[in-house]
Amino acid sequence: MHVHRFERLWLVAALAMIVLFIGTVTYGAVGAGYGMVDDTGGQVDPTDATASENFREPGVYNGSEPGHYDVYIEAKQFLFVPGTSDPVRVPANSTVTFHVTSTDVVHGFEVVGTNINTMAVPGQVATVTVKFDEPGEYGLVCNEYCGSGHHTMEGSLDVVPAAQFNQTEVN
Ligand code: CUA
Repeated sequence: MHVHRFERLWLVAALAMIVLFIGTVTYGAVGAGYGMVDDTGGQVDPTDATASENFREPGVYNGSEPGHYDVYIEAKQFLFVPGTSDPVRVPANSTVTFHVTSTDVVHGFEVVGTNINTMAVPGQVATVTVKFDEPGEYGLVCNEYCGSGHHTMEGSLDVVPAAQFNQTEVN
């Protein structure tokens, strides 16, 4: 069978593009350091989140080993607690696990300028673990439309130099 030269060229080009696209999608999913937020954070009663062992009073807690912290964040219309009225403060050079849940509607929890980005779903705790090497200030934003005040729902996260971190802020 004779395949015309241009026909063959287009076949090869189309196949190469398919391989390229599959490659870029695969890289985006697994190659760039992204991790998916799964359901290991467990469930809570959204009307009484702290009653469950999967969630605590919102705030910063010492983690299971030195240099590790657990931060429990409640998202609700239109606040992050903590985060909105007081910044979340953690020391630099620490590993922080955020446990985020919502007590009303679906919200988002994004730490601006990082790859921390999850939904906050009523009844479900999302956990994300991150290492902060350097001091810095980050914004927190809700990126799921959650009602009339959605655009105002924001907060801040301060990663302070370890020497300035006051252990009394930890629960
Ligand atoms: Cu909370 Cu949008």
